[in-house]
Amino acid sequence: MASGGPGPPLGERLGPRSCSGERLGPRSCSGDRLAPRSCSGDRDRDRDRDRERERAGTRSAPAPGRPLTLEREVGVWDTVLLEPLTEQAFIANLHQRYKHDQIYTYISQVLVSVNPYKKLPLYSSDVIRAYRSCSRFELPPHVYAVAEEAYRAVREHNSDQCVVISGESGAGKTEASKLIMQYVAAVSGRAKEVNAIKGQLLQSNPVLEAFGNAKTHRNDNSSRFGKYMDLEFDFKGDPIGGLITNYLLEKSRVTAQQPCERNFHIFYQLLTGADIQLLKSLKLQRNVENYDILKQGRPLQYETLDDKRDFQVTRRAMDILGLTADEQQAILRVIASVLKLGNVTFSPVNNIDGSEGCVVDNEYDLQDACELLHTDTASLQASLTSHTLDGRLDAVTVELSAAEACSARDVLARALYSRLFAWIVMRINETIKPKKHAKRKVLGVLDIYGFEVFERNGFEQFCINFCNEKLQQIFIQLVLREEQEEYVREGIEWTPVDYFNNAVICDLIEKTNQGILSMLDDECLKPGHGSDEGFLSRLNAACSNHPHFSVISDNSSPAHCFRLKHYAGDVTYDVTDFVKKNVDALSRDLSLVMYRCDLPLMKALFPEGNPKRVTLRRGTSASAQFKISLGALMKSLAAKQPHYVRCVKPNDTKVANEFDSELVRHQVRYLNLLETVRVKRVGFAFRQSYESFLARYKMLSLHTWPSWCGLAAEGVTYLLRDLPSSMAEYAFGRTKLFIRSPETVYELEEYRRDRLEELATLIQKTWRGWRQHRLFEAMRKSQIIIASNWRTWKAKEELRAMKQRRRTEWAARLVQRAYRGWKRRRFLLRLAHHLPSESPLCREWPRAPPPCQHASALLYKLYHKWRCHKYRMRFDQTSRNRMREKVTSSIIFKGRKASYPKSIGHPFLGDYVRLRQNSQWKKMSAQSNDQYVVFADIINKIARSSGKFVPVLFVLSTSSMLILDQRTMQIKYRIPAPEIYRISLSPFLDDIAVFHVRAHSPTRETTVEEPNLPGCLMGGGDSGSKHRKGDLVFQTGHVIEIVTKLFLVIQNATGKPPDINIDTEFEANFGQSDVVFSFKASGHPDMPPGQIRIIRRANKMEVIL
Ligand SMILES: Nc1ncnc2c1ncn2[C@@H]1O[C@H](COP(=O)(O)OP(=O)(O)OP(=O)(O)O)[C@@H](O)[C@H]1O
Ligand SMILES: [Mg+2]
Repeated sequence: MASGGPGPPLGERLGPRSCSGERLGPRSCSGDRLAPRSCSGDRDRDRDRDRERERAGTRSAPAPGRPLTLEREVGVWDTVLLEPLTEQAFIANLHQRYKHDQIYTYISQVLVSVNPYKKLPLYSSDVIRAYRSCSRFELPPHVYAVAEEAYRAVREHNSDQCVVISGESGAGKTEASKLIMQYVAAVSGRAKEVNAIKGQLLQSNPVLEAFGNAKTHRNDNSSRFGKYMDLEFDFKGDPIGGLITNYLLEKSRVTAQQPCERNFHIFYQLLTGADIQLLKSLKLQRNVENYDILKQGRPLQYETLDDKRDFQVTRRAMDILGLTADEQQAILRVIASVLKLGNVTFSPVNNIDGSEGCVVDNEYDLQDACELLHTDTASLQASLTSHTLDGRLDAVTVELSAAEACSARDVLARALYSRLFAWIVMRINETIKPKKHAKRKVLGVLDIYGFEVFERNGFEQFCINFCNEKLQQIFIQLVLREEQEEYVREGIEWTPVDYFNNAVICDLIEKTNQGILSMLDDECLKPGHGSDEGFLSRLNAACSNHPHFSVISDNSSPAHCFRLKHYAGDVTYDVTDFVKKNVDALSRDLSLVMYRCDLPLMKALFPEGNPKRVTLRRGTSASAQFKISLGALMKSLAAKQPHYVRCVKPNDTKVANEFDSELVRHQVRYLNLLETVRVKRVGFAFRQSYESFLARYKMLSLHTWPSWCGLAAEGVTYLLRDLPSSMAEYAFGRTKLFIRSPETVYELEEYRRDRLEELATLIQKTWRGWRQHRLFEAMRKSQIIIASNWRTWKAKEELRAMKQRRRTEWAARLVQRAYRGWKRRRFLLRLAHHLPSESPLCREWPRAPPPCQHASALLYKLYHKWRCHKYRMRFDQTSRNRMREKVTSSIIFKGRKASYPKSIGHPFLGDYVRLRQNSQWKKMSAQSNDQYVVFADIINKIARSSGKFVPVLFVLSTSSMLILDQRTMQIKYRIPAPEIYRISLSPFLDDIAVFHVRAHSPTRETTVEEPNLPGCLMGGGDSGSKHRKGDLVFQTGHVIEIVTKLFLVIQNATGKPPDINIDTEFEANFGQSDVVFSFKASGHPDMPPGQIRIIRRANKMEVIL
């Protein structure tokens, strides 16, 4: 968001709201605005920090005896605040603090460290945690604070950093560099992989110290090589690897040490720490005195080092660094061979031609060395005692004198050792090389040998001190010169601070063509490599007028010396061996022999010995190489943001609690510490271009967040106005903003961190919301897909089930149909083959299966009809008549008369008394036209008055009903059939029937010409009376037959059937009176079944059954 112009102060302004409804703008963690933080916010912040510190454990576990608070600091912990600022006050302040074990003091961002020479409780994990969580201005000065600042800058600013540790030998540079590495390792990531890398980075120290450090006058663990280590980090700030660059090992120490000094630690460690087997395999004896190259520094005053323990540490470190057992064995073989070579001596011999030659005195040692290196003794011996001169056409071998042979031996021993050291560094680099090819940031730690002045200073001291000059130069350049020049350039008001610039010394040493190094190289280029004297005379001639160069003309020093006025003091250098060490030529014969050794390591150490790589070109001189590598180092340092640790040595005796003020004064002077204080005091702690400042802090103002489109300087002005810090803290340069105190920078960083937390929360919130929304959308879509698929599946399943059901039903129906058909067919076939009897009386019928029930019933009816028909068809006319009678009786009585069922099986014989054959009857009937007898039997006529039974012969002809005397056959009554109009019966078992006769017989005279119909009663008589005799009452066992036949006779006679009245009570006419017949079932136990009693009471006749 670009802002058109300045807005009101932040405290009064209301900015656009954040998603959460909070106003944008810098806030504290608790959400307070920035403005109030400057007053009450300070307290809040302190509380926050306290809490943070508490969390970090600084309160609960302070360093024993000295809690980490600034209040307890003695003197001035940042000398920028020192008043008055004098050299005396500065040193007194250091001294005072030193007495209280407060060895660290700030000069703004530069840390001054005074070597305590004793263990201090300053390096525990609690202290690391404290510095991890606090800014450097909250806790006492510490090397951890410098490490934290550099590491934080790598992690948060994503820029390369370096820590330059300087100071003279024994001032504590190596210890400081180890503490920095230890701190970074402790605070960076803890993943397994990261821990492994950290372990390897840390373990490189013991190995390099074992092979590269030695005890000197000034330091028991003096680094005899320069080391610059790049720690490489990924974007998270986790170490991913490293790169070690080593500078000029002091290899002369391998063959010669000054009195009371030692060779490199590894020799002593090996002899003291190795077990017997190892020593035996290396052909060594434990006694140090047995080896010439270890004896020279004797006598040692007292032994402070624990070589035995250190050897174990070195071996363990080599293991961790991934050096295989074979590699370690090969390394130790080379070390042992150097020891053995050191013992080889030569004796001069005079050759026949008068030249001087030499012989090896102690061949056993040479033999051992050869066995250790897997080479043959003869060739090594030859190359040590003779020298092959390579001509253009042929080679000439020249024997060496004893001194030359000793020199060749020493060159070989030094070459073996220094090349082994370089190989170890290369091998460690291989191990710690970052495995990932991701973008990485670097934190470099420079621990280079300190400035040193010995009694006799040789080529190595010259190089070491030159290196320190260069480092001083870079410090001056960046801290003193450039900073001041920048103020002027940027138009900041500035009073220049004077300081000594050592550029003139650097020029004296390294200037092309005119510098000391160039002159040395020129001397070495002379045929036969020139001489040390030649070099010295060149120097004296060229530099005698230089203010920093002194020709030694008095007797205070040997004649072959020159003196340099270094930034750190005067040093007299002995030029002896300068030329030789600079050329550092290992004879080609020795290179060849070494290359031919049957040890793989040797091929890597002496690649130039490969016969295929024959070259007559001279190699680059040692000083030139050193100059080139120093140039690269300076370039690398200049490309990084530097942090400085200036180490000060309190005394020369390496003891604790001794503060040699003069010694310290000397260091304070040459390290330009006071000048640094002056520059830092009036200068600014921090500067940054407006663009980068805006880029880093733009989120702290609503004017500049999220983007500023105007001029960067203008944006910075708005931004700073929105912040609570005083404007006096800032100075506006032409292109850069300057911030006076580091506290303000820290405050800015705090604001930024708080604001970033807010923004991170906002981003997190938005992202989480977006992610959840996306998740929800995905779930919704998935749910729809799942639901639709599930529905489809369900529908398909249903369809499938339905089809299945339908098919099953269809199949079931088919099966059913087939089964029913089969059942029907079987039933019908069975029925057809096993039809029941054709008798109409037969009730049998095969049981039909349910589906055929109806058909079966119909069939049964049909069959029954058919068999009845068939049965009937078999009848003649008589049978048919009889059947007709039976049918008629059924129609009349079925279900109405209790005695009917008994009559069914009884055939209606009709003529029971064989009347038709009776001759008397034949005569009689002819007259009365009653010859067609339908029924004749003796039956009981019930006397109407008494109810008594009177047997009579009852005859029914086709025309009339006749009652005859049974004995005489006299006709008592003849009643033409048409005169009987009704027949009454009871529904009971009694056999009584009442024939109702009309009063007049209208048919008596009528001659009815009836057709000869079956069953039709024909004829008539004259026995009829004009008087009404009344109705006739009979009792007979054939009552059903008589009534049926009479019914038919009357029907035939009149064409109309008589009325058949079946009731329990009915009337009957007895002549003059009507009588009511009443039938009762008595239920009396005395009455036998079928027996009846008839009682006449007035006009009521009761029949009791
Ligand atoms: N912070 C410290 N606490 C305790 N002892 C220390 C500390 N710094 C240095 N020393 C002691 O001082 C000795 C020398 O320190 P160191 O090896 O770091 O010196 P240097 O500056 O690297 O010297 P050189 O240039 O010779 O390598 C150490 O062996 C150790 O005993
Ligand atoms: Mg050191």
